[in-house]
Amino acid sequence: MQPTPTETWSRVSWQDKEALQQPEYPDADALAAALKTLSMQPPLVTSWEIESLKEKLAEATYGKRFLLQGGDCAERFDECTARIITSRLKILLQMSLVLNYGLRMPVVRVGRFAGQYAKPRSSPMETLDGKTLPSYRGDIINGIGFTEEERTPDPRRLLEAYSTSALTLNFVRSLVSGGFADLHHPEYWNQGFVHEADLAAEYQHMLDTIRAALMFAESVADGPISGLREASFYTSHEALHLHYEQAFTRTVPRRTGTYNLSTHFPWVGLRTAHLNGAHVEYARGIRNPIGIKVGGSLSPSELQSLIRHLNPEQEPGRLTLITRFGVANIENQLPPLIDAVRATGSPVLWCADPMHGNTETTDNGFKTRHFDNILGELEHAMDIHRAMGTYFGGVHFELTGEDVTECIGGARGLSAEDLDQAYHSLVDPRLNAEQALEMVLLIVHKKQRMPD
Ligand code: PEP
Ligand code: CO
Repeated sequence: MQPTPTETWSRVSWQDKEALQQPEYPDADALAAALKTLSMQPPLVTSWEIESLKEKLAEATYGKRFLLQGGDCAERFDECTARIITSRLKILLQMSLVLNYGLRMPVVRVGRFAGQYAKPRSSPMETLDGKTLPSYRGDIINGIGFTEEERTPDPRRLLEAYSTSALTLNFVRSLVSGGFADLHHPEYWNQGFVHEADLAAEYQHMLDTIRAALMFAESVADGPISGLREASFYTSHEALHLHYEQAFTRTVPRRTGTYNLSTHFPWVGLRTAHLNGAHVEYARGIRNPIGIKVGGSLSPSELQSLIRHLNPEQEPGRLTLITRFGVANIENQLPPLIDAVRATGSPVLWCADPMHGNTETTDNGFKTRHFDNILGELEHAMDIHRAMGTYFGGVHFELTGEDVTECIGGARGLSAEDLDQAYHSLVDPRLNAEQALEMVLLIVHKKQRMPD
C-alpha cells in the first residue's frame, strides 16, 4: 500500500507501522521510565546547527562542497575516552584538509559519533556452543558478553547512551573551538603514525604548501584571517532505535516544524529503508537533513517513492543518498538508480559508502574489507557520476584514529594474517588512521587524473 504524503505525521506515528530491528525489552515499565527521563533531558544539538548543516549539504548537492562523513561502525561506551575521541577527530580533520586542498572545495565534516550506538543485525539471535541468546545490537541496547545478563536489552543503557553522546560531543566542541583545528599549530596536524614514506611525504608537502599560503595570505591581510582557527563539525548516526529518537524529537520556540535534536544528521539504514516501515515514517516528519543508505536491494521505483515521500517539497540539502553496492556491483546497480532519481526532478546529494558492500570473512574468521575494493568502489562511483552528469559529492567511511588492523591492504600492506594484531571492532572493520589518510589522498589523485 502506497502511503499518502498527507497522512498525519506525529512523533509517535511510526508506532503504527512495522518497526524492524527493535529490541524487545522484558521490562516495559523500566523502558517507559527511561524514555520519560530522556525526553526531559536537554537536547544534544540545536535547530540552528541542523539548518546550517542542511544549507551546507544543499551546497554539496549543487557541486559547491564535498561531504566527509566518518567514524566507528558502532561506538562503545568504554571507548568514550579522551584519546579515542581526539585521535578520531584528528584523522577526520586531516582527511578534510586533504580533500579541501586536493578537490579545491570546502568540505562539510560529519562524524559518525556522539550517538552511533544502535546496530541492525542480520539475525536476532546468536548461538554459541549450543546456547542461544539475543544478538548484540549495540551498547545502547545490550552488552557484547555472551551471557543472559549482558544480552538482555536494558533500558538503562538508553540513559548511558545519552550521557556518553553528550560527553563525546562536549569534548569535540571544546577541541574544535579551542584551537585543535588551528592550522597554525603544526603539532596538531602532523601524522606520526604514517609509516609509509611516500604517503608521509605527500601529506607533509601538502601541509607545508598550505602553511606557506596561509602565512602569505596573513601577511597580505596584515593580520590573522578569521575562520582558520576553528572548524565546524556535525554529528550523525543511524536513526535505528526509534523510541530513543522519539525522546529527542521536539519542537523549538520560534521555528516551525519538528526536529530530532539528538543528532544533526540521522540516516535510515539499508535494512530499514522501507516505504511503509516505521523508520521512514519517523524520518518523514522531522526537519533534519536525512541520509538514506541505498544498495542493490532497492529498486529504482522504490527509491523514487522514498524520495517523493521523504522530500515532497524537493528541498535541497534534505536528502543525501549514501550508496553502498560493493565494488563488483556498482557498475550495474548505480546507473539505473541515477536515472530513476533524475526522473523525480528532486535534488539529492550523492555520497558513496564504499565500506558496507565490501565486507567479507577471512579463512581465519575475521570480518574484513580490502583497501583496494573500498578504493575501487569509490573510483567507480566517481567515473559513473561523471559519465552520467551527476555530481559525486561525498564519502562515508568506517574509520578510527587508532592504529587498528581490521581492513586488509593499504600502503603498509596489512594481510589477513596481520588482522589479529589489533582487531578491536565489535561489529564492522574500520580503516585505521593511516589507511584513511591514504584513501583520501588516492581519491584526490583519481580526481586529478579525471578530465575537467
Ligand atoms: C552501517 O552504516 O553501519 C550500516 C549498518 O550500514 P547499512 O545500513 O548500509 O548496511
Ligand atoms: Co557498519
